Amino acid sequence: MPDIHVVVLAAGKGTRMKSALPKVLHRAGDRPLIEHVLGTAGSISPASIVVVVGHEADRVKDALGKRLGLSFALQEPQLGTGHALLQAEPLLRDASGTLVLLSGDVPLLRPDTLASLVRRHEKRLAAATVLTAIVPSPEGYGRIVREGGQIAAIVEHKDASPADREIREINSGIYAFDIAPLFEALHAIGSSNAQGEYYLPDLVRIYRRRGLTVETVKLDDAREILGVNSRRELADVSAILRSHKNDELMAAGVTIVDPATTFIGVDVAIGTDTIIHPGVYLEGQTRIGSRCEIQSGVRIVNSAIDDGVAINNFCLIVDSHVSRGAKIGPFAHIRPQSDIGEDAHIGNFVELKKTTLGRGSKANHLAYLGDATIGEQVNIGAGTITCNYDGTLKHPTVIEDGAFIGSDTQLIAPVRIGKGSYVAAGSSITEDVPPESLAIARGKQINKEGWVSKRKK
Ligand code: UD1
Ligand code: CA
Repeated sequence: MPDIHVVVLAAGKGTRMKSALPKVLHRAGDRPLIEHVLGTAGSISPASIVVVVGHEADRVKDALGKRLGLSFALQEPQLGTGHALLQAEPLLRDASGTLVLLSGDVPLLRPDTLASLVRRHEKRLAAATVLTAIVPSPEGYGRIVREGGQIAAIVEHKDASPADREIREINSGIYAFDIAPLFEALHAIGSSNAQGEYYLPDLVRIYRRRGLTVETVKLDDAREILGVNSRRELADVSAILRSHKNDELMAAGVTIVDPATTFIGVDVAIGTDTIIHPGVYLEGQTRIGSRCEIQSGVRIVNSAIDDGVAINNFCLIVDSHVSRGAKIGPFAHIRPQSDIGEDAHIGNFVELKKTTLGRGSKANHLAYLGDATIGEQVNIGAGTITCNYDGTLKHPTVIEDGAFIGSDTQLIAPVRIGKGSYVAAGSSITEDVPPESLAIARGKQINKEGWVSKRKK
């Protein structure tokens, strides 16, 4: 089998997005557009991938970072797709075999489709194979002009005659090329057209004139090659990615009450018999176990939720872990590096940051627990605050197993509450509390009897 090399075009400005962010970094399905394209590229195990960058090149390069087999070619200025591919020539000078060209703004292409494009291309020994599709509204796309059934040329929308504009078979912008004749022929492309650009699709006409074989593969589902050129199309692509993900999860035994309003990122995993209510966002590398119930308005980012967890309405959970059987919310904020133990409860208006809460422990109302290590079966009273920040440094609080923290307590860190101890409600604790003790740190109450009648006189 010949080698496969992939080139991804990502140098364009994306003018129609009206954005400071390069188009290929706009997100759909919880990933930048170009990550979807690189994912599909990876599925055919290419020997190398070249990304052509130009507009905001450093930003695109930084977003992708260093990866094995990935390199960048700079296109400066951006003179069109034909010119863009030429910039990969120095990197592919010694390469042979098949070059697959993908667009950084076409994120829905399926691995199977790409594999069949390559298979057909190699079987026919074609110089070029174009992936095409029949679409109901071909506005904006290049049209496939055929002569005697054979592809003769691709005409860009802006250059198309009224008759050509009637053609509903369009160019996906995805191609397989034999590397041998490619780069020499790219130099023959001119720029006398409506946009003054070097159009890669002009290669079809050039190849046909030279008697080289140009093939097409026609797609059944044209939605796969939807390109993102505007915010409207970004929303369309996002909706399709979302419904694919939701369908996959529902088929695997997850209940999604209202798929239209449920946003689950492509990398999220969910166990069977978990119920997801409307308006839930699950993002990043989030893992959710079986038999969980996630109520409306919850957002979970890069977190692990074990089996049988109940998350009540309007909670935000980021970079944290929730153990089996725990109950969270409503209105809880679980900030990074928190770890909630088995069967623990976090109630309304409770915020955790970098805090471990042991098995069966409870913080049911109105608390801030930051930089704290809390043992098992601890009760945190309403209004408890770990005063972890002195204005310069963060300090730890330790609360040992079985301790009881009375309501409206301030724990002024660094401080340790010993095993089984009680802290009286309303205390400001500044010293460690030994195990099995009672700490009271509040003003003593004075009742002045008859004070009101004296005042009136
Ligand atoms: C292109 C095709 C069109 C096809 C459509 C499918 C050309 C001339 N037209 O049109 O036939 O139907 O895709 O989606 O190829 N890019 C560069 N450098 C440049 C210009 C573009 O890297 O100088 C990149 C863009 O970043 C983008 C891709 O190439 O990722 C396609 O460019 P775009 O301007 O979106 O082309 P379309 O007008 O959509
Ligand atoms: Ca495009």
